[in-house]
Amino acid sequence: EQINKGSYEHYMQKEIHEQPESLRTTMRGRLIRGGFCKAKSVLLGGLKDHLKTIRRSRRIVCIGCGTSYNAALAARPLLEELSGIPVTLEIASDLLDRQGPIYREDTAVFVSQSGETADTLHALQYALDNGALCVGITNTVGSAIARNTHCGIHINAGCEIGVASTKAYTSQIVVMAMLALAVGDDTISSQLRREAIIDGLFDLPNKVKEVLKLDQEMKDLAEQLMAEQSLLVFGRGYNFATALEGALKVKEVALTHSEGILAGEMKHGPLALVDENLSIFVIATHDACFRLVLFSKQQSVIQQLHARKGRLIVMCSKGESSLVCPGVSVRVIEVPQVEDCLQPVINIIPLQLLAYHLTVLRGLNVDQPRNLAKSVTTQ
Ligand code: G6P
Repeated sequence: EQINKGSYEHYMQKEIHEQPESLRTTMRGRLIRGGFCKAKSVLLGGLKDHLKTIRRSRRIVCIGCGTSYNAALAARPLLEELSGIPVTLEIASDLLDRQGPIYREDTAVFVSQSGETADTLHALQYALDNGALCVGITNTVGSAIARNTHCGIHINAGCEIGVASTKAYTSQIVVMAMLALAVGDDTISSQLRREAIIDGLFDLPNKVKEVLKLDQEMKDLAEQLMAEQSLLVFGRGYNFATALEGALKVKEVALTHSEGILAGEMKHGPLALVDENLSIFVIATHDACFRLVLFSKQQSVIQQLHARKGRLIVMCSKGESSLVCPGVSVRVIEVPQVEDCLQPVINIIPLQLLAYHLTVLRGLNVDQPRNLAKSVTTQ
C-alpha cells in the first residue's frame, strides 16, 4: 500500500502528506506517558544495553550525508543540552578525506535513511576500526548500517520512494530527539524540560497536520517564485538545519540554485548578494528557550535584508507576523508553534511543499530528479 501513490500524483507529494502518520509510527511504543509516581520517558529497545556507555562517552559524533546530515544538525542542540556531552557533526566523506580523529571513548551515531550510503558505510568501518561505540539510525531494517553497528534505533518512517527525502527527515529528527531524551534520562535537573518535550512529541502529528494546510499557500508562493534564478534561505539555532534542508530540497528537485545560510553569518558575505532581484526566505519562528536572544536577532536580520530591498518571505509563528517584522511589508507564512527543539519538524514542511510545487510547475521530474539517486552506493 505504501508503494502505491494512492490519490496523489507523485511519491514526493504523498510522502510529504503522510508525515502525521509516519511520525506516529516512528514514536509508536517508544513514548511513556507516565502517571502516578512514574515519570514520562522514552523507551528505545535497541539502545537499552548501551545507554550507560553512551552517557560515559567523551564525545558524541553524528555522521551522515545529505538530508541525514541535516537531520543530525537539527537535533544537535537538544542532544548537547540533554546529554551534557560535546556533540560534533561529520559529513561522512569529509571525515574520511581528513581521516579525522575518532576515539574509543566516542559514541559515533550513523544517520542514514537507506542504511546503505557508501560514504556513511565506510565511515562506519573507520569508526569501528578506531574502537568507537557505533549507533545506527536507519529507515531500513537489515541494511548494512543497521547490521554493522553495535546498537541502534530504526526510524520506522515507512518506505520512501521519492529521491528527495521528506518523511524520513522529520522522523530522523524525532528519533534523534528521543535519543537525546533517553541519554539525558538520568538527570533530575532536566526532568521538566524532558517532560515538556515528550508532551510536544505526543502532539506533534496534529501540529504537522495543521501545517500541511499551507499546501495551497505554498503553491501560490511557488507560482510567484517560478521564474527565480536563486533563493536564499536564512535560519539560525534549531532552524539552521531547516535553512540547509529547505535549500537542498529546492536545489534537488526544482533545479533552482538555493543556499541555506546561517543568519549569524549574513554580514560575512551573503549580504553582498542582496538587492531588489533576490528572493530570500527567512525562518523566524518563536523560539521559547532562546526567545529574547534569537528572535530579536532574526528581527534585526529581517530589517537589514529589507533595507537592501531583498524580496522577503518570512516564516513566523502563528499570530506573530506583526511582531517579527514591524513596519516591514513582506510575505508572511505562519506556522504552528511547538516545543523549540521540535520546531524544525514543522518548519521544513512548507519548504518541502514549496520545492514540490516549484518542480511540478516547471514540468520537471519530481520523484526522480536528473543525475541523482535515492541511495548512493559508490564513493
Ligand atoms: C542521496 C539522496 C538523499 C539522501 C542522501 C543520504 O544523496 O538523494 O536524499 O539524503 O543520499 O542518504 P541516506 O540513505 O544515507 O540517508
